[in-house]
Amino acid sequence: MTSTSRAPRQRETWTSSTGFILAAIGSAVGLGNIWRFPGVAYENGGGAFLIPYLVALLTAGIPILFLDYAIGHRYRAAAPLAYRRMARPAETLGWFQIGLSFVIAVYYAAVIAWSLSYFVFSFDLRWGDDTGTFFTGEYLKVGDPEISATIVPGVAIPLVLVWLAVLVVIALGVTAGVQRVNVIGIPLLFVAFLALVVRAVTLPGSTTGLDAFFTPNWGALTDPAVWIAAYSQIFFSLSIAFGIMVTYSSYQRRKANMTSSGLIVAFANSSFEILAGIGVFATLGFMANQASIGIEELPGLTGPILSFVTFPAVISQMPGGTFFGAIFFGSLTLAGFTSIISILLGVAASVGEKFGLGQKGSALVVCLSCAVLSLALFSTTSALLALDTVDQWANNVGIVFSAIAMTVLVVWVLRKGPTLKAHLNAVSTFKVGWWWILLVGALAPIYLGYMLYERVRTLITEGYEELPQWFLNTFGWGVIGLVVLAAILLTLVPWRGRDEPEFVPWPPLQEEPASLLQPGSSTTSDILRPRLPEQEEPR
Ligand code: PHE
Repeated sequence: MTSTSRAPRQRETWTSSTGFILAAIGSAVGLGNIWRFPGVAYENGGGAFLIPYLVALLTAGIPILFLDYAIGHRYRAAAPLAYRRMARPAETLGWFQIGLSFVIAVYYAAVIAWSLSYFVFSFDLRWGDDTGTFFTGEYLKVGDPEISATIVPGVAIPLVLVWLAVLVVIALGVTAGVQRVNVIGIPLLFVAFLALVVRAVTLPGSTTGLDAFFTPNWGALTDPAVWIAAYSQIFFSLSIAFGIMVTYSSYQRRKANMTSSGLIVAFANSSFEILAGIGVFATLGFMANQASIGIEELPGLTGPILSFVTFPAVISQMPGGTFFGAIFFGSLTLAGFTSIISILLGVAASVGEKFGLGQKGSALVVCLSCAVLSLALFSTTSALLALDTVDQWANNVGIVFSAIAMTVLVVWVLRKGPTLKAHLNAVSTFKVGWWWILLVGALAPIYLGYMLYERVRTLITEGYEELPQWFLNTFGWGVIGLVVLAAILLTLVPWRGRDEPEFVPWPPLQEEPASLLQPGSSTTSDILRPRLPEQEEPR
């Protein structure tokens, strides 16, 4: 416990709005954009998918992003402590979100490791002609759906490298580590990816692919599964309801323009996503054109198969393929890396705050345990199937549940809607109105609740991908159960870090005109800085 007499340690901050925005874009733009979105869109109605996607962005994505930001900025802590500061038992929800993030990091790292390997393979097109056999056979050495302990060195080595890099960045902290990686990495990623898309759309046959991608199948709009896919994609892609954006915004300075940054992040992320869809499908169009077949006849248009089997095959056929391959897999690695560091920062900050560990200590504990699990599970021969199953449950069940719990708890149980709305409006230029509370508190829980019910019902009655039930019980339901258990246990452990009964959320609650918040305005300091001696004052 902290005594009021001891000067509180300064909380690190992003050094500028741009630093925060780039880091938040870095978290959002990841494997989800390049590896997940194009296939999800294609499978769920093509061009028509853009409708549920945009509806999901506007009705849940942006409002819940604002909610994450408001909680993090007002309560200035990673998710468990931020919720605890609202009401003690709410800490459990914070741990549930952080637990889900941890699970995602375990497999996300594996995909980054594959991308890193494939980046190297691009230089001599090592995957040969039969890219499918190469990926699952030679590279991953996929076995039956079983729990295997046979380590595959080709995966384990890049995976260790990824974890070392993550550890270094997290140990360096918010400004010197995470912000620096994003300030350099994100502009680089945009330039590289743009070059890739320009090359893709100028390939012969690219329009066939774009037609396939954009041609709407309106019938899909009546299928609840399509809507669920759109909402899950938005949550995953914007990194919301994972406790990660709560942590990121807790490092914002006091006078940060939260909602405007949120809009920039959300639209940058979706633009990147659509750009990726265009790039990927233009490339597929080229391939279908070469083989004189329709896009739908190409094998594997989604998920890992799209990136690691279909894409390498196209790259082999393309003039200048090596260059294209290196940019594609390099972008995938970079995009994935800026996302995984956001997850680990969220987990490490939560553990650090709870157990009173410093930055380096918590980075070490968290990165090591996540790395060991990820090596044990995903560098073995059962990797691919386990990964797909965990992904399905974490994103279609876990995160939707987390979003419902979060909105109901904050708006209905703790009744923080008006407080958080006032907080956002006091610091931001883009004001949220009553519509925000309506979307977050009333509409989101209703349609998310319906979606969750539908999804769980289908998973129970129909299983998943014809995998054996014991496998789904382990990697699907079992993983969710473990996260719930861990969240309860972690809440029960006595708080050892600096929990300060004297914590005071940042004032003011009046909705001040934005002009008062410009740096340097004398009124600003009068209004925004009442004398609160024990309060941290990040600058
Ligand atoms: N948003 C990231 C992506 O699109 C993934 C992610 C999920 C990052 C959850 C942080 C938290 O790939």
